[in-house]
Amino acid sequence: MANILVTGGAGYIGSHTCLELLNAGHQVVVLDNLSNSSAESLQRVQALTQKSLHFIEGDIRDGAGLDQLFQQHKIDAVIHFAGLKAVGESQQIPLAYFEHNIAGSISLAQAMQRAGVFKLVFSSSATVYDEANISPLNEEMPTGMPSNNYGYTKLIIEQLLEKLTIADERWSIALLRYFNPVGAHKSGQIGEDPQGIPNNLMPYVTQVAVGRREKLSIFGSDYDTVDGTGVRDYIHVVDLANAHLCALNNRLNAQGCRAWNIGTGNGISVLQVKNTFEQVNGVEIPFELAPRRAGDVATSFADNRRAIAELGWQPQYGLEDMLADSWNWQKQNPNGYR
Ligand code: NAD
Ligand code: UFG
Repeated sequence: MANILVTGGAGYIGSHTCLELLNAGHQVVVLDNLSNSSAESLQRVQALTQKSLHFIEGDIRDGAGLDQLFQQHKIDAVIHFAGLKAVGESQQIPLAYFEHNIAGSISLAQAMQRAGVFKLVFSSSATVYDEANISPLNEEMPTGMPSNNYGYTKLIIEQLLEKLTIADERWSIALLRYFNPVGAHKSGQIGEDPQGIPNNLMPYVTQVAVGRREKLSIFGSDYDTVDGTGVRDYIHVVDLANAHLCALNNRLNAQGCRAWNIGTGNGISVLQVKNTFEQVNGVEIPFELAPRRAGDVATSFADNRRAIAELGWQPQYGLEDMLADSWNWQKQNPNGYR
């Protein structure tokens, strides 16, 4: 069992990962500045697991704070979720994205090096792939220039981390390229709680279902896809959380930098999401067909065979589970953690 620092652990994916880490018997220290989350998520993680974790409210950009953390806790490895993630906002305030995501990751790696901690699992994104690649996307395919500043920060951080492992063989780094995380823990006690108007499909759908929004706008119905709407690879957040435990195990006995896609390998259209949500949950989702959203690709889904073969990971949940669990969370928490 290991002592794991989870940056951004109070957030959506981080809180689910903390829960799985505690259940697996690891010790967990969370560092989060709560800029996009609530400490309530961690209270609930502790209640669900009947185990405690150590929460530090702080920022990855604060090197002195990180030094203190590493002195007080003997950390074996870091899972790094902290960062800003709103695609549209990243076009308005790029410097904030460069600072929190890129400079923040450098600050974290510097502090890790000072503390002699060299195992890292990083939250990357399928957005790093060149848009010219045809799905299923595999890890050998070229990366490209992401269409937005958020995606650009993920690409830059991947490249910086890879160069770090080349320069110093003590580093061992996993780059997990997430496809589209959705769903929530079965209990409905923790889940996705976006601030303001959701950017992503699933929280928008559940907020329409719960009556917080009038109708779903489907962005684009003239793509070259099964029904004209955008196709994505939705992955249950609990499966995604477990991928971090598998990647951690892999990195404890390895050197270098390696990327893995974390998706189910199934391409699902927006209309299929809406229709299946209605069937599984017995709730109607009013909708309109709207113009395409800038920067969207028609189709993106994973070739996940590398993660299955090398990490011993296997997604357990299908689309119906994802949609039932998203709704279970939203229904029990109509206003999220507030
Ligand atoms: P989230 O916003 O719920 O979690 C991120 C957490 O980091 C939040 O709790 C926030 O308060 C914290 N944070 C932000 N800046 C910080 C800083 N400077 N110092 C300390 N804490 C800070 O987001 P999420 O959906 O859980 O995503 C987690 C990670 O996964 C992010 O890096 C995100 O870019 C990446 N990712 C997410 C998706 C997705 O669709 N959700 C897809 C691909 C990659
Ligand atoms: N969509 C709608 N209506 C909405 C929201 C989304 O029709 O209100 C559509 C989009 O056009 C797209 C699909 O639903 O076809 C999925 O959109 P999301 O915004 O949920 O997800 P994206 O695939 O655009 O982006 C996600 C993450 C990014 C990450 C990217 C990598 O949000 O962080 O995957 O592929 F970079």
